[in-house]
Formats: sequence, C-alpha cells, structure tokens
Amino acid sequence: MASASRYGEMNRLFNRCGQSGVLLPKVSLGMWHNFGAEDPYERSRAITHYAFDHGITHFDLANNYGPPAGSAEETMGRLMEQDFAPYRDELFISTKAGYLMWDGPYGEWGSRKYLTASLDQSLRRMKLDYVDLFYSHRYDPDTPIEETLQTLVDFVRQGKALYVGISNWPLEPLKAATRYLHERGVPLLIYQGRLNMIDRKPMDEGILAFCRQEGIGFIAYSPLAQGLLTDRYLDGIPSDSRMAKEHFLKSERRTPELLRMLHDLQQEGQAHGRTIAQEALAWILAQEGVTSVLVGVSSVEQLKNNLAVI
Ligand SMILES: NC(=O)c1ccc[n+]([C@@H]2O[C@H](COP(=O)([O-])OP(=O)(O)OC[C@H]3O[C@@H](n4cnc5c(N)ncnc54)[C@H](OP(=O)(O)O)[C@@H]3O)[C@@H](O)[C@H]2O)c1
Repeated sequence: MASASRYGEMNRLFNRCGQSGVLLPKVSLGMWHNFGAEDPYERSRAITHYAFDHGITHFDLANNYGPPAGSAEETMGRLMEQDFAPYRDELFISTKAGYLMWDGPYGEWGSRKYLTASLDQSLRRMKLDYVDLFYSHRYDPDTPIEETLQTLVDFVRQGKALYVGISNWPLEPLKAATRYLHERGVPLLIYQGRLNMIDRKPMDEGILAFCRQEGIGFIAYSPLAQGLLTDRYLDGIPSDSRMAKEHFLKSERRTPELLRMLHDLQQEGQAHGRTIAQEALAWILAQEGVTSVLVGVSSVEQLKNNLAVI
C-alpha cells in the first residue's frame, strides 16, 4: 500500500515536460545501476517504494540495464507484479534501445528490426502492455533517420509507447528529428542528455537551448557525475562504491582538482544547509529548460538525501 501523502504539494514536486501535457517529478529514478540481478532485490524494492511514496512517479530504464543486460527490466517486472500493478496509471515508465543488446547484426543501433524486437522484449520483461516513453538511446549514423524515427512513430500508433524521446543525439540530427516527428503528429516529448556541474555538453552545444525553444522537455542523466559530485569519494574510495568496481567510473577521476571542487561545494552547501549532492542537483534544476534530474542511488538514504533538494 503506497503512502497516502505521496504527492504533497504537486507544484513543489513536479515540472511540466516542455509544452506537453505531462508532468514529471523534478527528481526521477534511474535504474542503470543497482537494480540488476546481481543486486539485492529487497534493496531495489525498498528504493522504489521510498521513491513512489515520495511522489517519484518516473522510473527510467533501458533494454541493457543490469547487469546482466535486461535484468533491471526484469526487476521492474517483478516489482510490477508484486507491488506496482495497482498503481500503473500513476507511473511513468521509460525504456530505450540503441546500445548492444544481443549478438548479430540486429542487436544494436537504430534499425526498425532492432528497435521493434527490443521494445517487444522490454515489454515482456517489465510485464507491461505499453511504456509511457520510448527513447532512441543513441544516434545511428548509418541508418537513415527516417527509418529510426518512423519506427518510433509506429510504436505510438501501435499503442506500445505513449510518447517518444531521444537520448544522446547530436544537435543537427535532433533538429531533423524534431521536425520529422512534429510533422507526423507525434511530437518529441523529451531529450535525455548527460548534464552535471562537471559535464555541461548539452549546454555548450546548444541542445538544452534548442529543447527550451521548441517546447521539448530535458532530463539530465548522471546529475551527480555517477557519484563524483557527492561526499562519496571525499576521504577515499569506499569498497561498495561504483568507483571501486573500476568499470563505468574509474579511480583516475578522483583528482586533486575534483577534491578541491568538492571542498568548495561542501562549504557553499553549508551556507545553504545543503549536502554536496543537493548543491549539484540544485544547480541543474536551476538551469532554464531542465524538467528533471535523473538520479541513480544504491540506498534509500541516498535517495532521501537527493529528494531533499526539492
Ligand atoms: N541515456 C543514457 O545514455 C544514460 C546514461 C547514463 C545514465 N542514464 C540514466 O540516468 C540514471 C542516473 O545515472 P547515474 O546512476 O550515473 O546517476 P548519478 O545520480 O550521477 O550517480 C548515481 C550514483 O551516485 C551515488 N550517489 C547518489 N546519490 C548519492 C548521495 N546522496 N550521496 C552519496 N552518493 C550518492 C551512488 O553511487 P554508489 O553506487 O557508489 O553508492 C549512485 O549509484 C541512470 O540510472 C539511467 O536511468 C542514462
């Protein structure tokens, strides 16, 4: 049973996604790490419950999240069956395809063949009839964009996705995609890009400004730079941290320059009564055109800390 007070003040919790009818929570939950088959299910369950009980309606997935690939969607499917089915209409669930998912020529990139098979697999794993949002996960320079985009349009026409999004595409193809989708009555809902205090590429390359002008929402992924912009690495590399795995986050990122930045952020945060993570999230949410920050967490405590930014 979800908390009866989960929505509190709607204006505080939600932002309108571009010029669409959709409201998204200012803090959304991403399942790239910490929700796979190798992670404790009860922890995943506790995190998603805490999220939903505090008004986080948006869970973000992709075909390849895990590890192993696909298992985060399976976790979502188990959660749907056990807990969230009665709340399906209160949830906004996204998935994506673009990166390597299976062997052979049809297991990645942007063909109709790959995207269609992938979304069908995602729906089965998540035990859903439809996703709220389907993204092209990356730009495919070798597939005509009309093929990729028409597949997204068709997903909406088929009722497999309610909205479409684009992630990690460069600006020029993004502009072409916006036109193509608009002309077919399936407007681009949202762009998902990496934006944080260290990596400002979507701002530097004009992507955020373009989304703002066109009424497209923008959701910032890795808003804490995978944990770099928190107190996690202030005093070393904890053995249970993402950096300790030396895979997606290498220890060479813990530089003297980063530590100086963290100490400055810590001091600024003390002035505002905020943690480093909250400072980093507040900075993104203050950028005009940002709809939501998409955090990853490995504990309920971290999520609680991050949610305090709103
Ligand atoms: N579209 C794309 O290509 C793309 C790419 C990457 C991510 N994403 C999406 O964005 C989501 C978030 O990405 P991310 O996991 O890199 O996000 P992030 O929020 O930048 O980093 C998450 C990590 O930071 C640490 N952390 C979070 N809150 C903390 C706190 N309050 N105090 C201390 N440490 C804290 C945790 O590290 P530990 O695990 O070490 O505790 C956590 O796993 C993903 O789940 C996915 O949905 C999309």
